[in-house]
Amino acid sequence: MMNVDKDKCIGCGLCVKDCFVRDIELIDGKAKINNMTCFKCGHCIAICPKGAVYTDEYSMEDVEEYNKEEFEIDADNLLNFIKFRRTIRQFKNKDVETEKLSKIIEAGRFTQTGSNSQNVSYIVVREGIDKLKEIALESLNGLGENILSNLNPQMMPFKRYAQMWVNMYKNYKLNPNGKEQLFFNAPAIVLVVSDSPVNAALASSNMELMTNALGLGTFFSGFFVRAAQGNKKIMDYLELGEGKEIVTCMVIGYPDVKYSRTTPRKIAEISWK
Ligand SMILES: Cc1cc2nc3c(=O)[nH]c(=O)nc-3n(C[C@H](O)[C@H](O)[C@H](O)COP(=O)(O)O)c2cc1C
Repeated sequence: MMNVDKDKCIGCGLCVKDCFVRDIELIDGKAKINNMTCFKCGHCIAICPKGAVYTDEYSMEDVEEYNKEEFEIDADNLLNFIKFRRTIRQFKNKDVETEKLSKIIEAGRFTQTGSNSQNVSYIVVREGIDKLKEIALESLNGLGENILSNLNPQMMPFKRYAQMWVNMYKNYKLNPNGKEQLFFNAPAIVLVVSDSPVNAALASSNMELMTNALGLGTFFSGFFVRAAQGNKKIMDYLELGEGKEIVTCMVIGYPDVKYSRTTPRKIAEISWK
């Protein structure tokens, strides 16, 4: 429930005006939240100049008062930060602190979701990384062999990956603790899970920025996501229930590589109407 402390409410109507689902009205000069159509977006909490709105739905300890110094980022710096972000595939042999992983997940938790569904969850893999690697490489090997033995024109674009997956598994079998190209020997993985690919991808993007802000590096393992699709062994190992989909796999560690500049990109295709 969203509630209004009537002693604090000054009846300014800002919450009424900002409520997307029109669930708030002013009665006798005080805001009244009907909690009928409310989808708990918290705009009423955020906008109230008197801090009169509260909820028992979530922890009010999440709510922080705005102050410019701590809440603003210079636009040019932000753009540079985005440009300088790189996929990291070389990691130091150093663990990632639990506090840093929690902060990365906080960046996901506070990312917007459609209809405020907040239907994104996270699986952190550290100790289990070797086991996960083994079953994921097994899965990719199976997928690769299947593609290579059924090569038709439709499958041709995947041939390169199929060969790579088979080789990755072969190398792993020869030397299970050697250099590998699935998780690149990183110490931590965060799997972002949701039944909404958009919500999970938006969360992942903010998480990636947080990863970099913490001095860590990451890459998204599309290979792992492919290996996990419909793979019972991986789903069972991760104890993932029916209908839950791994949308992204963030491989995280301390970078063992330094970049000196940004990279070029295709010109954006934009049409201004
Ligand atoms: C959805 C997605 C899946 C990816 N999968 C892999 C992967 O399985 N292995 C890998 O080494 N890099 C993977 N990447 C990294 C891309 O290859 C990389 O983002 C791209 O080459 C551009 O490099 P940059 O991230 O440094 O700008 C993936 C990236 C995205 C966004």
